[in-house]
Amino acid sequence: MCGIVGVVGNRNATDILMQGLEKLEYRGYDSAGIYVANGDNSSLVKSVGRIADLRAKIGIDVSGSTGIGHTRWATHGQATEDNAHPHTSATGRFVLVHNGVIENYLQIKEEYLAGHDLKGQTDTEIAVHLIGQFVEDSLSVLEAFKKALSIIEGSYAFALVDSEDTDTIYVAKNKSPLLIGLGDGYNMVCSDAMAMIRETSEFMEIHDKELVILTKDAATVTDYDGNEIERDSYTAELDLSDIGKGTYPFYMLKEIDEQPTVMRKLISTYADSEGNMNIDPAIVKSVQDADRIYILAAGTSYNAGFASKAMLEKLTDTPVELGVASEWGYNMPLLSKKPMFILLSQSGETADSRQVLVKANEMGIPSLTVTNVPGSTLSREATYTMLLHAGPEIAVASTKAYTAQVAALAFLAKAVGEANGKAEAAEFDLVHELSIVAQSIEATLSEKDMIADKVEKLLSTTRNAFYIGRGNDYYVAMEASLKLKEISYIQCEGFAAGELKHGTISLIEDGTPVIGLISSSELVAAHTRGNIQEVAARGANVLTVVEEGLEREGDDIVVNKVHPFLATIGMVISTQLIAYYASLQRGLDVDKPRNLAKAVTVE
Ligand code: M6R
Repeated sequence: MCGIVGVVGNRNATDILMQGLEKLEYRGYDSAGIYVANGDNSSLVKSVGRIADLRAKIGIDVSGSTGIGHTRWATHGQATEDNAHPHTSATGRFVLVHNGVIENYLQIKEEYLAGHDLKGQTDTEIAVHLIGQFVEDSLSVLEAFKKALSIIEGSYAFALVDSEDTDTIYVAKNKSPLLIGLGDGYNMVCSDAMAMIRETSEFMEIHDKELVILTKDAATVTDYDGNEIERDSYTAELDLSDIGKGTYPFYMLKEIDEQPTVMRKLISTYADSEGNMNIDPAIVKSVQDADRIYILAAGTSYNAGFASKAMLEKLTDTPVELGVASEWGYNMPLLSKKPMFILLSQSGETADSRQVLVKANEMGIPSLTVTNVPGSTLSREATYTMLLHAGPEIAVASTKAYTAQVAALAFLAKAVGEANGKAEAAEFDLVHELSIVAQSIEATLSEKDMIADKVEKLLSTTRNAFYIGRGNDYYVAMEASLKLKEISYIQCEGFAAGELKHGTISLIEDGTPVIGLISSSELVAAHTRGNIQEVAARGANVLTVVEEGLEREGDDIVVNKVHPFLATIGMVISTQLIAYYASLQRGLDVDKPRNLAKAVTVE
């Protein structure tokens, strides 16, 4: 979703902005632009489409040492050049980039901007006109910015440049992510650290409703009343090589391949050399004290919550309930007496999940964020954090974060179960079992060509498909179908195998692809096979993914057996590859599917 980058100081701003925007591409966008200040030769360049399209429009004359850039994921108004950021005030003096949604932009337009001629339809253009208007009304730039912030409602990350004084970038944020990067003789502002690590590894957080006056030598943080806030910087442990594709054609394939390494990394992080759990005792106690665990998340992270539910319940003896974050933020159901909230989020920035966390904090509910991004908003604002240690996930389609989430929750579940004195938890040799999972993943990954071949036969021309399974296989089916539809645009449903005959089976016709997942007990497997027969009898084109030991002649993909608590990890890998090859074979942009963003920072 929208990305912001800005730099002020002694560097080549054009180069830094373009490099930064390229690093922000993964977030999803449909237009982009930069503003580079240079007196009368300042440049504002925008383009619909990819960063490469923007780059093609940038000549050598676009140079300077202060600038702001933006990737826009359309919310208000279509993806057009007029709607692309940066936006300018009525006189062109002020230039603004924005991430978020200004909820009261129409009221602002009516109340303050009568007679203003707006080029596009965005809420951002209204914000920069508002600031410009206040300066026209004789406020200083800082006062005008603060006054605008006091009026604007909603979510925002802003970076503002005054073309008449380009030694400063004015920055503010509320609910949308934004981070300061500190350099020697230059400073930066950006939506995330990854887009700045080529330039610096020293960062400073900005909290909601804070303003930063950024110059080449200082980043002064204040509240909206102008009170200065002391804020320490920190050094990020990020490795530039982590965010390269290497020899891979797409990040998604690289990230799928990284999963055995991620499993091993989690073992070394959350267990000691004797195999004892290495989880913050305060987190364990907090879960122990709860009478119910609520997992709140969106998309793949939500599916990872389901994939972990049975294991969490069995090991901790605590009921687990799942909630769609976008629903719970505003429709919180009746909770148990002693709830514990677990926010699952790869990015740690999902606005829907954050809204739930804001509510939970207001209600005094203890919370744990399980995320891949240290220092992310959800991590900062929850009571506790557990990190996924999966390395940056760049492809929009989440893969390694899903398996890392299930594995991380397994460590938590075992630690809590052991603390509760549960024999099943003590007997569950997680370190050993997760090592087997890593090997199972490797075995599936070695079958890529075979899987690609099957995908070509099954999915090359279809417009729709089904994944079916029971129990944990149903939960994997949910994730498998999300993955397939988001990157191949095949309409796909993940269905409880037994539920099909209650209505949805009417959609099955000659050639409808149905992928059956079978990893549970013999008994459950037999029932799923019955459901597969039912669709086959109605013309479905069936592909089976079966756990070793349950296979029969004619099955398509056989997955190595792993411990039942971790079977969702074992089963999901081939479905990730199915989605990858379906997208690839259709000639689509696997890493950047249309309409989607990596970090969904608006509600
Ligand atoms: O960063 P999060 O895990 O909070 O993101 C939640 C969803 O937006 C995300 O999982 C999305 O569904 C993925 N693109 C799916 O691959």
